[in-house]
Amino acid sequence: MKLASQLIFVTLIPIAMAAAALSPESAPRPASAQEISRGKYLVEEVAKCTECHTPRDKNNQLDRDRWLQGAPIWIQPVIRTPDWADSAPTLAGLANYSDEQVDRVLEKGEGVEGKPIQPPMHIYHLHHDDAASIIAYLRLVHGAFPGRP
Ligand code: HEC
Repeated sequence: MKLASQLIFVTLIPIAMAAAALSPESAPRPASAQEISRGKYLVEEVAKCTECHTPRDKNNQLDRDRWLQGAPIWIQPVIRTPDWADSAPTLAGLANYSDEQVDRVLEKGEGVEGKPIQPPMHIYHLHHDDAASIIAYLRLVHGAFPGRP
């Protein structure tokens, strides 16, 4: 009996390995609800991407109707810096970027075209899982979802 169960185990290993080899690694994996809510938390409460990438209303508050849709930069450096950016691009839906490009910005601190990041955009060196959660959330941001209070 013991030998029989060992044989089954030994036979199952190559089958499992073959199945893993067949699964297409490049196929996009749908993000889980947990990953998306973590991404929202990181964007809105930790990294505060919204502070620069969301335009402000007439009361200088972040405009919930234009959540992460790109904005003029409202802060100035104390010491003049020639490469200071005057606007932050839209991140809503990440329509202009591939996952790999945004991952590069968030994990390696490099611009999407391989150019240096311009301040005041931060140089982030995030963990892969955090970057992936942020990307999963940003892909879903458009109009009303899910930036509204
Ligand atoms: C302090 C302001 C500020 C914050 C906070 C900020 N950004 Fe930016 N971001 C900018 C500015 C300004 C640019 C344009 C400069 C540039 O592209 O180098 C930019 C550019 C980008 C780009 C395009 C980079 C490129 O090479 O074209 C991405 C993607 C991006 N930000 C994502 C994010 C994400 C995601 C967060 C939060 C995790 C974030 N940003 C937080 C100001 C900010």
